[in-house]
Amino acid sequence: MELRALGRTGLRISALGLGTMTFGEQNTETEAHAQLDLALAAGINFIDAAELYPVPPRAETVGLTETYIGTWLKSRACRDRVILATKVVGASTWLPHIRGGAARLDRANIEAALDASLRRLQTDWIDLYQLHWPDRQTNYFGKLGYTPVAQDDSIPLIETLEVLADLITAGKVRAVGVSNETPWGLMRFLNLAEQTGLPRMASIQNPYSLLNRTFEIGLAEVASREECGLLAYSPLGFGVLSGKYLDGRQPPGARLTRFERFDRYSNPRAEWATRQYVDLARRHGLDPARMALAWVTSRPFTTSTIIGATTLAQLESNLASAELTLSREVIDEIESIHIQQPNPAP
Ligand SMILES: NC(=O)c1ccc[n+]([C@@H]2O[C@H](COP(=O)([O-])OP(=O)(O)OC[C@H]3O[C@@H](n4cnc5c(N)ncnc54)[C@H](OP(=O)(O)O)[C@@H]3O)[C@@H](O)[C@H]2O)c1
Repeated sequence: MELRALGRTGLRISALGLGTMTFGEQNTETEAHAQLDLALAAGINFIDAAELYPVPPRAETVGLTETYIGTWLKSRACRDRVILATKVVGASTWLPHIRGGAARLDRANIEAALDASLRRLQTDWIDLYQLHWPDRQTNYFGKLGYTPVAQDDSIPLIETLEVLADLITAGKVRAVGVSNETPWGLMRFLNLAEQTGLPRMASIQNPYSLLNRTFEIGLAEVASREECGLLAYSPLGFGVLSGKYLDGRQPPGARLTRFERFDRYSNPRAEWATRQYVDLARRHGLDPARMALAWVTSRPFTTSTIIGATTLAQLESNLASAELTLSREVIDEIESIHIQQPNPAP
């Protein structure tokens, strides 16, 4: 498995990372451990978690993902072989079970979140600590349009950065990153780091797939020029790009069958585009999911593609995408579908 530089940190992470947000909801602890074993054996060293996981977030399950990773790290004694990432939630009134529904990216919240994550993960340090989404009101999770905020009471970015600096000094965190950020937010963080000597964001974890290439509009340039690469999440659009939901199919146990409210990647335009990508893959003798993953991994601004799976068979197949090089012809055909239906699921 290829290793790539994580920003300017000196750390090197695998071109595929293992997403874990199914652990504790769609996957049991035993299944989670089997996935982690398989991923590590295949050369993955980068594991992505969050205090909020599993998804969908619920009071009954919150923290289970990190707990399962923690029991695995302990039983396999492999902490040194893993680049472990987790996240602190951004401002959130919609998560009553996380710090009373009053989470912010301020000192009290971040310190409490990190200490709880460290306990669940049974480790003394996090390699990459990420801000799950911004504290301020802005566009993420597919929000379109933009309304300027009349009164901005968000936690200043520098205040958040100062807290992160202290966590690094304390040895609890090695590097920091953002998630669900905008070009404005990422550039502000990078400029602040340059001006003040506070920690520099090493990565940006945003959605990126054949169904959502909005990252290319403003963020790809920042990622490349600033050496702050993309950690691409939902590279299969919640599994949609495998083609398994086409023609109204509802595979038993699959995410969109179980959780109907996850409709971000299944509108009619996304379905049309998915059909084109699936047909294209099949015409070239490719597995549609592997083609979709190989395409994300091969973008020049991608540092790692965070793959997700609920079965070992899916994981094995997705791991094989690391060996797949797409031909010029396939890439050109992908572009022509994209031009006909750009970003159907932003
Ligand atoms: N920062 C953020 O806000 C954020 C948001 C989302 C995700 N993430 C991170 O990114 C990771 C990956 O996200 P994601 O799970 O949404 O990725 P995804 O690749 O879009 O979807 C993964 C899901 O698709 C299905 N699947 C995977 N491989 C398949 C295959 N070969 N054939 C058919 N179905 C397949 C599985 O679900 P079923 O078996 O249920 O169909 C699997 O759980 C997460 O675990 C998390 O670490 C971060």
